[in-house]
Amino acid sequence: MVTELVPSGPTGESAEVIVLFTRAELSSHLETLRGSGRSVGLVPTMGALHAGHLSLVAAAARECDVVALTIFVNPLQFGPGEDLGAYPRPIERDLRLAENGGVDVVFTPTTEEMYPESMATTVHVRGLTGSMEGASRPTHFDGVTTVVTKLFSLAGPCRAYFGEKDYQQLAVVTRLARDLDFPVTVVPCPIAREDDGLALSSRNVHLDAEQRAAAVVLYRALQTGAAMIAGGERVGTTVAARMAGVVADAPTARLDYAEVVHTEMLEPVGVVHGGQPVRLLVAAAFGSTRLLDNIGVVAP
Ligand code: PAJ
Repeated sequence: MVTELVPSGPTGESAEVIVLFTRAELSSHLETLRGSGRSVGLVPTMGALHAGHLSLVAAAARECDVVALTIFVNPLQFGPGEDLGAYPRPIERDLRLAENGGVDVVFTPTTEEMYPESMATTVHVRGLTGSMEGASRPTHFDGVTTVVTKLFSLAGPCRAYFGEKDYQQLAVVTRLARDLDFPVTVVPCPIAREDDGLALSSRNVHLDAEQRAAAVVLYRALQTGAAMIAGGERVGTTVAARMAGVVADAPTARLDYAEVVHTEMLEPVGVVHGGQPVRLLVAAAFGSTRLLDNIGVVAP
């Protein structure tokens, strides 16, 4: 089934988005496009699109002939008691935003289409998935890597755009593509933020006014950590402890973790050496909404 949301223009080069619902359609559609010499940019999402997602779409549109956006709220990556049921699903709005943002193809399967049988196979990336998000959400990354493996298999050769917003996910997916020889180049994209620094997230809509005001503490903590390193602090745990303190000072925030880690291996950095790039990451809950943020720093 192929739905064209707006009629084709007279030139045949209109900006209509093609909406695909089945795995077979996605696979054959992208295969056909590649066959006619066009390169494919893949942007996997769970929908509830915001400017962060659209910055990935824009990067894909700059670098590829065709942009394929996937919208699928993947039940495998939600733990029991997490917000699967409450996850926002504004599909009509998403399709409009996708179309206006320069997406050519949207793939939005049902759960039954994506997982027609209960899955006997799980894709697991060792090591990188044990800490931080993986420690707080033990089944999360297996759900992500399993669905991303399916999306990479269906999409075929492409560039795949992932946000640094989910930095650990980006590292895990990059490793997955390399380990399993997918003909996919994983492209990292910078974090899109609100004016006050809050990282855009589909979950921000759940914040009440007080929580929204408090949530900026994540970015403030990261800036504090970055300033410490810029100012000569070299002990990773000292920086992490100060970031944790900044978050904990916000009355409505419940800190999950604050870390200074190696940019690829994601292991905590004991001593930050001059010229060494490190990643600062924080996570905290505001009410029932769990938010993440991170920033890259190179020690002077
Ligand atoms: P989702 O949370 O919808 O995010 C889709 C992509 O958008 C991810 O690569 C994420 O890092 C990126 N993104 C989200 N907010 C961003 C921001 N403020 N700036 C830049 N990029 C941002 O991540 C997922 O979905 C899922 O785990 C998925 C990979 C689709 C697998 O189900």
